[in-house]
Amino acid sequence: MSSVLGSIQRTFWVVLLLVLVVFLLLGFLHVDIGLLTPLLRDEAEGLPVTNVMFLKTHKTASSTVLNILYRFAETHNLSTALPVGSHFHLGYPWLFLARYVEGITQDGHPPRRFNIMCNHLRFNLPEVQKVMPEDTFYFSILRNPIFQLESSFSYYKGSAPAFQKVSSLDAFLAAPRRFYDDSAGPQNAYARNCMWFDFGFDNNARDDAAYVRARIADVERRFHVVLIAEYFDESVVLLRHLLRWQLDDVVYFKLNARSERSVTSLAPESQERARRWCALDWSLYEHFNRTLWARLHAELGPRRLRAEVAQLRARQRQLTARCLQDGEPKRKKEIADPQLQPFQSGKADILGYTLRQGLENATLRSCQRMVMPELQYMARLYSLQFPEKPPKNIPFLKP
Ligand SMILES: *[C@@H]1O[C@H](CO)[C@@H](O)[C@H](O)[C@H]1NC(C)=O
Ligand SMILES: *[C@@H]1O[C@H](CO)[C@@H](O)[C@H](O)[C@H]1NC(C)=O
Ligand SMILES: *[C@@H]1O[C@H](CO)[C@@H](O)[C@H](O)[C@H]1NC(C)=O
Repeated sequence: MSSVLGSIQRTFWVVLLLVLVVFLLLGFLHVDIGLLTPLLRDEAEGLPVTNVMFLKTHKTASSTVLNILYRFAETHNLSTALPVGSHFHLGYPWLFLARYVEGITQDGHPPRRFNIMCNHLRFNLPEVQKVMPEDTFYFSILRNPIFQLESSFSYYKGSAPAFQKVSSLDAFLAAPRRFYDDSAGPQNAYARNCMWFDFGFDNNARDDAAYVRARIADVERRFHVVLIAEYFDESVVLLRHLLRWQLDDVVYFKLNARSERSVTSLAPESQERARRWCALDWSLYEHFNRTLWARLHAELGPRRLRAEVAQLRARQRQLTARCLQDGEPKRKKEIADPQLQPFQSGKADILGYTLRQGLENATLRSCQRMVMPELQYMARLYSLQFPEKPPKNIPFLKP
């Protein structure tokens, strides 16, 4: 009897041990499956996203993103929502309306939808939805508001009323109310909370916590991702994953950047003043900087992120060597080809590129696309898409 009891006891312990081992194995397997899923997912969800709306904010590296989207549209024969007639943007600084898009209405047809939308506009969701399909991927980009304002000052010195009568941004920030008038109209948006304004919100609103939270929630609801200019390569890597695009679709040369000498450094007290002056932009930026990093960790993890950023930069170096003369950006007067000269504005000295001589045809075409300034590229897409309409007239290209 006791030997029967003993063997039952032994069997019990063996079974318990087996159960434990199986649980442990499952635990390991689960972790392994977790590690593998990003790879499996890439294989499974093959098709790239082709309906994309980019809210192009001002002075945030958004011209470089625009070039990525224009290139994707051109090489994949996608339609682009371009400004109507002779216009260069989609109604900015007025709130966007669908009728600002060329070809949106055709006699007797329902409004046409487009694949890509990326020109400057002030966001207005119901009107954007008349232009873009329901499954559109929405994204935008933000930059540290201190540097955004510095860039804005240099670029819009002559056009924003608040900047016209002041010699430096330091002087402006010391007493902004002396120069900035809330009622001076939307041209003044360049001088305060410009990114907040671009998202369609009131850039002169009071910095009230509940109001700010509600507007940030609006952005969260509509936009699939918000990139951060200070972490441009990490942002581009994430974007590529979310859109399921190829590396060469997103590899880029920095466009519309200023020369070193037109970037001024702010006095330390000005930085704090800028943060307070643009408090709405600051909240927006802090929030989306946090969520970008949370996304990067969740979607990629640090190791994969590092590897993919390195891969992007390696490809960029390769194309720099292949495409660019001397491998660096040039001032306008050094660029002989008018098609490659960037538009100049305000006090800013905007850089562009010259291509290496003797490139073979296909290489030349792909290099040209990467360095073509935004106005010329827009004019080119416009002529391709609407061959029957008069081409866009870019005044500074006229002799
Ligand atoms: C590009 O798209 C247009 C209109 O969607 C179509 O008419 C044309 O045939 C396409 N071209 C190529 C090369 O696929
Ligand atoms: C943005 O996020 C990074 C990474 O978490 C952090 O190091 C940086 O301080 C943040 N910047 C701001 C202005 O919050
Ligand atoms: C390259 O382009 C030029 C001019 O557009 C053309 O004459 C030439 O035949 C092309 N060469 C090749 C190899 O396609």
